[in-house]
Amino acid sequence: MIHYQIIDDVAVIIMNSAPVNALGLAMRRSLIDHLKRAIDDDQVKAIVIASDLPLFCGGADIKEFKTGQLFDTPSLPGVIDAFENTPKLTLAAINGTAMGGGLELTLGCDYRIAQASAKMGLPEIKLGLFPGAGGTQRLPRIAGLPQALDMVLSGNPISAQQALDSGLVDRVLNEGAGLLGAAMDYARELIANNAPLRNCADIAVDQSETNPDYFEQTRNKIAPKTVGQVAPEICIQSLQRSITMPFADALAADVKAFDDLLQTPQARALIHLFFAEREAQKIPGVSRDTPVRELTSVAVIGAGTMGIGIAIACLDAGFKVTMLEMSAEALDRGLGNLQKHYARMVEKGRIDESRAQQCKSAVSGTLDYTDLGDADLVIEAVFEDLAIKKVVFEQLDRVCKPGAILASNTSTLDLNAIAGFTNRPADVIGLHFFSPANIMRLLEVVRGEKTGADVIKTTLVFGKRVRKLPVVVGVCYGFVGNRMLEPYFREGSRLLLEGASLEQVDNVLTGFGMAMGIISVSDLAGIDVSYRVRESRRNAISHDPTYQAIQDRLFELGRYGQKTGRGSYFYEGREKKNDPEVITLCEQLAAEHGIERRQISDQEILERCLYPLINEGMQILDEDIAYRSGDCDLIWVNGYGFPAWRGGPLQYADEIGLDTVLTGMNHYRKALGEYGEMWFKPAPLLEKLAGNGTKPDECIPRSNH
Ligand code: NAI
Repeated sequence: MIHYQIIDDVAVIIMNSAPVNALGLAMRRSLIDHLKRAIDDDQVKAIVIASDLPLFCGGADIKEFKTGQLFDTPSLPGVIDAFENTPKLTLAAINGTAMGGGLELTLGCDYRIAQASAKMGLPEIKLGLFPGAGGTQRLPRIAGLPQALDMVLSGNPISAQQALDSGLVDRVLNEGAGLLGAAMDYARELIANNAPLRNCADIAVDQSETNPDYFEQTRNKIAPKTVGQVAPEICIQSLQRSITMPFADALAADVKAFDDLLQTPQARALIHLFFAEREAQKIPGVSRDTPVRELTSVAVIGAGTMGIGIAIACLDAGFKVTMLEMSAEALDRGLGNLQKHYARMVEKGRIDESRAQQCKSAVSGTLDYTDLGDADLVIEAVFEDLAIKKVVFEQLDRVCKPGAILASNTSTLDLNAIAGFTNRPADVIGLHFFSPANIMRLLEVVRGEKTGADVIKTTLVFGKRVRKLPVVVGVCYGFVGNRMLEPYFREGSRLLLEGASLEQVDNVLTGFGMAMGIISVSDLAGIDVSYRVRESRRNAISHDPTYQAIQDRLFELGRYGQKTGRGSYFYEGREKKNDPEVITLCEQLAAEHGIERRQISDQEILERCLYPLINEGMQILDEDIAYRSGDCDLIWVNGYGFPAWRGGPLQYADEIGLDTVLTGMNHYRKALGEYGEMWFKPAPLLEKLAGNGTKPDECIPRSNH
């Protein structure tokens, strides 16, 4: 875990614990042991801490957040204190990245030298935490309050140059030169110059650049983006202590605050998502030995909204892309949109002209399927119509080389049927991107009955290359994301007939933390789009004449949402306004269907939207459509605007208790009469687990895979 070396009068402690030099208990013990050894050795005048891995240190061992070992002695704050109070010069040599506890460890050293490519950050806020091992006390002393506040509140890393500019590091080493050698030279130089030890207890935070209202102004600035979140305020309070409290007292207060924060549902939620992301890449039937197919060229069929977004994501990741359309006009329009996108990126300064040219020159258009013969991966994004997809996949089967992966971006159609249009169903997979496809992080990877394990593994690699979060799901109507959306959207609409206002529904949901309310989402996504989806499955919903009645009526009136300036709301430019006409429509529809309008509480709105969503998630787990509850959570957080700090619908259910959800479902089943009977039937898995304390994760049937 650690190599220890004495070179002349310098002791070198080199961490070597793959993959990230995590600061778990064993590493902490080892660091303390080696530090003591160096202190006790009279020959040693300075101590260098470095890494043998491509990065310096990834920080705390997050597994210990769950086991509680985090607080076992020596704790991380204790280790850093020990470095800080060493009577000999200490120097951190930072290569790659130093994150979280890894960076805090370097702050306990007297001096820091970094490679030019190094990145340093305190990402704890992304886990609902704050840098509780002294980062919020030492960083403002070393790099100044504004820099500290920025790093702690954003969680984003800074470059070595920025670190040098702010004083976070003392020296930056040009690329190519050996860091350890340079660190040794620096240590000898410090010894020769009798350089002072630098203990943060002796340094006061420089307040010359900050005014008395500094923290209050910061609070106001971040408020709109952090509604409902606990960690940002705790970060600010801790940073405030760096000027209001003696150093040692502030460190002690931080340890307590960190422990308290770790016990909050929000930290649990974000830590759950952290692990869920890693778990999601483990797929039954796919192993380390499963081969990965080589991918260099991608073909996209259909240059519409999704096709262009997908093409951009591929071009940005360095793939060659061929776009196929059904007419020259559609192709020109699509490629024109792609050109406009890159022009906008240049205009906004996001990329430079030469990068834009590089991407644009890697795309070509065609109307002829024979041009797709060389593509390694084909992604189909034509109209959502099985008959059209059939024609496309039959053609692809005819022209594509053996081993090419044939993917569909369908959001609702039966992937097994699509695979059946070819003679190579093992090569067919669903790659369900979300709009805008070049921006949204979620990629639902739909595993068909016959999809090959190597095809799944290859698409996971592809997903990462295009900077997405791939989550593998099984085949069913709407897969995981849209299937869970269906009851949530249904209740949002139905509540309008029962007496809730548009804004009440939207505000309750955004108040809960959703990025947008469902009524506004529908206006944005297009009322015509969801109408067409309903058209394709009227049989499944015809037993409820009130099902999306208001949305159907809006469609009939040509009110398709933002794109037509009118949907549930009406729009003046980007501004959304209430439309009395829609209120009247709701009243009329309620009367038509014999629904009594009443005052509806915010609590009822929240429960009626969320409980059926959770219930559907449980049903999906029971049917083995998702492998883990965490997969459903990742999908909803990364594709549907569910607040990450609530951990996703199933983590939230776990927090409030599955028995609460079950009781709620049963309550509305009775209270809403015939409608309740139709839609509020608890999923058998929910009934089974509620009350016995089992977490959704612990009971997932995996038999079908
Ligand atoms: P769109 O209508 O914007 O684009 C479809 C494009 O396909 C059009 O340019 C059309 O000319 C072309 N096309 C139609 N038939 C073709 C054929 N036989 N050969 C070649 N090109 C053909 O549709 P959009 O929104 O891009 O959707 C495409 C697919 O992506 C659908 O399956 C849809 O369900 C799915 N999807 C859509 C999402 C969205 O938010 N719009 C989200 C996720 C999936």
